[in-house]
Amino acid sequence: MNSIRLRTLVLAFSMAATGLAAQTIVASGSAPVIDNTWWKHAVIYEIYPRSFQDSNGDGIGDLNGITQRLDYLQALGVDAIWISPMYPSPQVDFGYDISDYENIDPQYGTLKDFDRLMEEAKKRNIRVILDMVLNHTSDKDKWFIESASSRKNKKRNWYVWSDGKPGPNGTPVPPNNWVSLFGGSAWEYMPQTKSFYYHKFYKQQPDLNWRNPEVENAMFGVMKFWLDRGVAGYRLDAIPTLFEDPQQRNEPATGGTNAQGDPNLQEIYTSNLPEVHDVMRRMRAMVGKYPGDRVLIGETYLPNTAELDKWYGGAKKDELQLPMDMIVGFSNKLDANMFRTRLSEVETQVHGSQPLLVFDNHDNIRSWERYGDGVHNVAIAKILATMLFTTRATALMYYGEELGMVTSTPTRVEDVRDPIGKTGWPNEKGRDGERTPMQWDPTPPQAGFSTSATTWLPVASNYKTVNVQTELADPNSLLNWHKNLIEMRRKRDAVRDGGMVMLDGTNASVLSYVRTAPPGHHNIVVALNMTAQPQKIALDLKEAGIQQTAIKTLMTNESSLMGATTTSITLPPFASWIGEVQMQ
Ligand code: NOJ
Repeated sequence: MNSIRLRTLVLAFSMAATGLAAQTIVASGSAPVIDNTWWKHAVIYEIYPRSFQDSNGDGIGDLNGITQRLDYLQALGVDAIWISPMYPSPQVDFGYDISDYENIDPQYGTLKDFDRLMEEAKKRNIRVILDMVLNHTSDKDKWFIESASSRKNKKRNWYVWSDGKPGPNGTPVPPNNWVSLFGGSAWEYMPQTKSFYYHKFYKQQPDLNWRNPEVENAMFGVMKFWLDRGVAGYRLDAIPTLFEDPQQRNEPATGGTNAQGDPNLQEIYTSNLPEVHDVMRRMRAMVGKYPGDRVLIGETYLPNTAELDKWYGGAKKDELQLPMDMIVGFSNKLDANMFRTRLSEVETQVHGSQPLLVFDNHDNIRSWERYGDGVHNVAIAKILATMLFTTRATALMYYGEELGMVTSTPTRVEDVRDPIGKTGWPNEKGRDGERTPMQWDPTPPQAGFSTSATTWLPVASNYKTVNVQTELADPNSLLNWHKNLIEMRRKRDAVRDGGMVMLDGTNASVLSYVRTAPPGHHNIVVALNMTAQPQKIALDLKEAGIQQTAIKTLMTNESSLMGATTTSITLPPFASWIGEVQMQ
């Protein structure tokens, strides 16, 4: 495993800017609010289609593979799956370079397979959310081919073009210092039209020009195509980067270079421009016309909660229903004070909108390594899962997170598949490590993922012990911990609809909170020891307005806590404990 780091591609802003001053915030409304809107209670499961299940033996996952595994997802308690892009694509960025927005890549199946997946998912009450890439297309998309063909083409203004500046020997140079998040200048020269096009990501991913209303119209059309087919909503890729500064001014350098060797820049002219919110409002209005509470989820790496609130539409709540809170889940440090502050912020500072928490995705080293200490990783993973499922947030998880799948980063550059790992080697080894095939069972060599002798990425070497079949049989496994938490979240009113109040607000070692229930239902208390030392706590439930003191343990990973009857307990290292307050 290489060093723990967050990749720059996903960090539009420095996380350090979030400011963690106060440690004693007691969060959120304590009053339970009953609202049955499905996405407010949902467990959403991200599937990277190449890596979930291969149904035709070619070593690459596909849609029929996902359909085959729906029973597993239903049993886990998943309400919706988000499928990373499965549209036709040259696969330079494994689907995030789309060349046809209204079809399925033959590697993954057909539109018929997609419709069958939708039907089978519906039978199991699982909704399907698609990934929508609006910032850029593939350079093989017919729109870009037209746009690039001539300065006079009617789609010329669909992308971001520039003449550049005169260079030293007569050849033009890029108009400014903007860099691609994947390395090098963000401007690519096309000699045939003597002009540069802008690409925030790979050069095979030219940015669309969202200042042109035709682009919005075309993209909303694409979104309607799948909404008409019944999808429950979208995860909006790289959504803060839709707009760039029309004056194309240089971005300020912040000093030093990134993993690709490019200068670090403050992305004030290429990310999170205010114009994007007008598009979000129109998009929300468009999606809102569909029945069934379709949902818009944003890939929103933002510097602080105030910025996150803007993506909900602030008090008006007329933009995304669920912009992702990346501040909690990608803090990368198991720190009770920090989680208390950040969870409190997202509960109290987004005008009552619904938080969306996420700890893992296909772009970051798995949480197993980012939070794990190498000794207590299972217990630490249980702590993260407990926060994910017992706070008030909608929960977003990534395939394999429930098993404790590890990050298996390639050790040789010749094995790397993700282009940023090739260009950035050895500083940036790419994202292959967190995209390895799902581990279904202990069968060699492909752990139930595929019948092929080779798979697009190798199965991680620990598959004999870390896999669905083995973990289902072990009541103490991480997988069963997830299942039990999800079931608790569905069945317990306090966890489903309750308010949330932090307890013991100055404890730097233990995060504790109550989920307050409607009258007549049990309040639920959670305590998580985030240190390697035992911690004695004595929680005062009166802080949450609760007079009763007797407790019954509902879930814990430590047998010594099974018989706890009060909130005065000693939590072993990295213990998770959930108790039910008794009604006297
Ligand atoms: C964010 C996606 O999650 C990532 O995988 C992709 O490379 C970039 N956006 C570009 O689409």
